[in-house]
Amino acid sequence: MGKTKTMKTLIAYSTTHGCTGKVALELKEKLGGEATLINLKEDRNPSLALYDQVIIGGSIHAGQIQKRVKEFCAKNLEQLKQKELGLFICCMYEGDVAREQLRNAFPEELHQAAKNEAFFGGAFDFKRMKFFEKMIVRKVAKVNESVSNLDYGKIDNFASRMNKIFNPFLFLV
Ligand SMILES: Cc1cc2nc3c(=O)[nH]c(=O)nc-3n(C[C@H](O)[C@H](O)[C@H](O)COP(=O)(O)O)c2cc1C
Repeated sequence: MGKTKTMKTLIAYSTTHGCTGKVALELKEKLGGEATLINLKEDRNPSLALYDQVIIGGSIHAGQIQKRVKEFCAKNLEQLKQKELGLFICCMYEGDVAREQLRNAFPEELHQAAKNEAFFGGAFDFKRMKFFEKMIVRKVAKVNESVSNLDYGKIDNFASRMNKIFNPFLFLV
């Protein structure tokens, strides 16, 4: 077989207290090929031309994903639809609420185009929360200390599904 082109993946994410950043790093390590991490807080409008595959992630606060994730999606909608696309969120709700939050986090056209979508759970990190945020979490979630319910199995599955899309030979093994 001839030389195969290395798949290039962009993981563009936003994180408020670090959990989504941790997931993004985990995905980068699990993905084959070349993966580049971009925090949308540092680079709001990365060039997409270099990448075959784009994964977009953010976390949910008061029902919404970060505004900069929404802006990134809106601004690059047409280009993103041409990519192998993966979408994910970190959030503490599970089941139907998490599914609804995921649906609401990205434009319908990107859901249609996406090859892979998931919610991975999340974490409350009291060390990084502001006073007001701690108050809300204590009151609403009835949690008083840092906890994580990140689902590493789901992160693994997401990464291998992204890889399979690109390398049809993986279906043979
Ligand atoms: C102030 C506050 C509000 C939150 N609101 C929601 C919410 O509406 N729904 C939800 O599922 N999780 C909610 N969460 C949980 C976050 O989504 C979770 O902590 C996530 O892991 C944060 O990821 P990050 O550290 O990357 O920002 C909230 C957390 C905080 C601190």
